[in-house]
Amino acid sequence: MNSLGPQKLKTIQSQLILAFSIAILVPAIITAYAGMKIISDQIFTRAETKTISDLNSAREIYRNKLSQIHSVTRLTAVRSLIKNAVRNRDRQFLTGDLEKTLRREKLDVLTVVDSRGTVISRGRNPALFGDNLLDDRFVDQVVKARQPLIGTDIVSSEELLKESTDLAVQASMEVMPTPKAKPRKDHLETSGMMLKSAVPLFDDNDEFLGVLIGGILLNRNFDIVDKINEIVHEGQVYEGKEIGTATIFQGDLRISTNVKNQDGTRALGTLVSDEVNDAVLSQGKRWVGEAFVVNAIYLAAYEPIRDPMGDIIGILYVGVLKQPFDDVLQKALMTFLGIALLGILLIVSVSIVLARRLSLPLRKLEEIARKIAAGDYKHEFIAKGPQEIEHLATSLDEMAKQLDFEKRELEEWANTLEKKVNERAEEMKKIHSQLFRSEKLASLGKLAAGVAHEINNPLTGILTNSSLLLEDLDKDDPRREDVDVMVKETIRCREIVKRLLDFAKQTKPQKRMASINALIDNIVLLVRNQTSFRNITITRHLSDGIPDLLVDPDQIQQVFINIILNAAEAMTKGGSLTIRNALSQDGTSVVVSFADTGPGIPDAMREKIFDPFYTTKEHGTGLGLSISYGIVEQHGGEISVDSIVGKGSTFTIDLPIATNEPAGESA
Ligand SMILES: Nc1ncnc2c1ncn2[C@@H]1O[C@H](COP(=O)(O)OP(=O)(O)OP(=O)(O)O)[C@@H](O)[C@H]1O
Ligand SMILES: [Mg+2]
Repeated sequence: MNSLGPQKLKTIQSQLILAFSIAILVPAIITAYAGMKIISDQIFTRAETKTISDLNSAREIYRNKLSQIHSVTRLTAVRSLIKNAVRNRDRQFLTGDLEKTLRREKLDVLTVVDSRGTVISRGRNPALFGDNLLDDRFVDQVVKARQPLIGTDIVSSEELLKESTDLAVQASMEVMPTPKAKPRKDHLETSGMMLKSAVPLFDDNDEFLGVLIGGILLNRNFDIVDKINEIVHEGQVYEGKEIGTATIFQGDLRISTNVKNQDGTRALGTLVSDEVNDAVLSQGKRWVGEAFVVNAIYLAAYEPIRDPMGDIIGILYVGVLKQPFDDVLQKALMTFLGIALLGILLIVSVSIVLARRLSLPLRKLEEIARKIAAGDYKHEFIAKGPQEIEHLATSLDEMAKQLDFEKRELEEWANTLEKKVNERAEEMKKIHSQLFRSEKLASLGKLAAGVAHEINNPLTGILTNSSLLLEDLDKDDPRREDVDVMVKETIRCREIVKRLLDFAKQTKPQKRMASINALIDNIVLLVRNQTSFRNITITRHLSDGIPDLLVDPDQIQQVFINIILNAAEAMTKGGSLTIRNALSQDGTSVVVSFADTGPGIPDAMREKIFDPFYTTKEHGTGLGLSISYGIVEQHGGEISVDSIVGKGSTFTIDLPIATNEPAGESA
């Protein structure tokens, strides 16, 4: 199992977060985008509608001003005193009256001309009269049509100068360089734009007397724009800027406005943008849209101002500061973003919790798998978590238990196998050494038999003759002792030869049924009184339930004697000999053991003691145990020794109960 740790992007947690985030973010972004689009469309459609309605209001205010001028002019024109004074050329009266009216009604111009257009009196400039105003299109029209005419007109500086220097100065305006505007050749505008009313004067007989002209110069007159702002926008201010703006352009030149410069002064003398210029001044269209006005962006509406003849002579503009709308939009956007952010946070925390719930049990599973891999099956493998993971843990647990079971079974098999192999190897070794020993014994036996046979006859001769010589010698004869030694040694030699022959013969045992217990008892009786057993305690633990065995009693007795004598010879300073017998565990043989408390037999020696002629004794032949080995073997039994150096040795003879005669006895 891969580690669930460091590869961040591959963790369940990060994948969950990614998946959730995509699932939430995509619709959120789409919703936010659509929402913002709808909101901004809504806001700007409304703003546009509002701007257009503002423009309508502005136009109304503009017209209102015009009709106000017209009312004043018309009411003055119908006054009898005025009519009479015109007919009578009573300049004095006219001058006084017109001047009064002009002041009262706050008009810039109030002039009366006769039926041919010659000025009779100027309320503004009484000193100047007699000039002809037929060049004035308004005057010309009224003289011709004898109908009142109201509207906006462009008035030249000469005309203005005739009225007053102040008026000409008021109209005169320096053109400010304006970005995005159409370049203008002249840098000074000297003509002015005027709201004008020209009313025909008739006497009581309806005779045309002349024309009364009233007007207000719009340049630097802020009545209209301030009124628009006051009525339409109620003078609202947003972050230090007036929300609503209104402007009257003379041609493309801003001559009356409440748009402010950076320094707070009115932005007079600046120009309309190129784009608006084209649309409104050249094509006579209304233009609605976003406009950069002086220093801020406005949602603006422009429409042409025409003179009564229909020529475009200026522009009426209203605009609302765009900033508040942008701010509303931004607020909405921020709210959306906030909600989205909150959503993401929520997703991240939910996915972290979820991923923990998933990855913790997974890590636990990983740990379990690692433990199993390391061969640790003992744990109870439980992982709490989603059902699938719990199932997986249970499966792992079962797998571990199964593995554990199989591992132990394998180990058991391996152990048994090893034991069996060892047993077999031991058996083979034993069989091999038995075979080896048997073969050695057999060939040695043949050799010994030959030698003994050759030696036996000369020995008999020596013994006979030395015995006779001994008899012949006097009792005091000093040679007697030597001859005695001769006789004794010869006897010993004969004994050795006899034993050699016994060993070599290994004749077929004369088997009959005999009691092992009885055989042992006999031997003990025989040896007990011998000097070598003086300091030795013989103890017997003989079992009653031993059946008689089919054996050669003499041979078996000889085996027992050999072992008992060896024990005695090993315990020269005394000790104890314990003789036991019993049925073997499987009941197929009788086991007789002889345990002494002698010095014991070292391991290296133990291998050799059954070999012929192996002896550690000065006068030993080393044949005792090898003869015994041969006899026991011929009885189908086994002889073995256990010994602890310093504690003693135990010789054990195992004789089979089986009545069948063993195979090797004919050898
Ligand atoms: N009970 C015993 N304790 C210690 N050593 C023993 C014992 N029995 C036998 N041996 C050793 O085994 C050797 C061989 O014994 P074995 O009976 O074959 O020959 P031997 O006793 O030396 O001579 P022989 O039996 O002809 O007198 C002995 O010399 C002795 O060293
Ligand atoms: Mg011996």
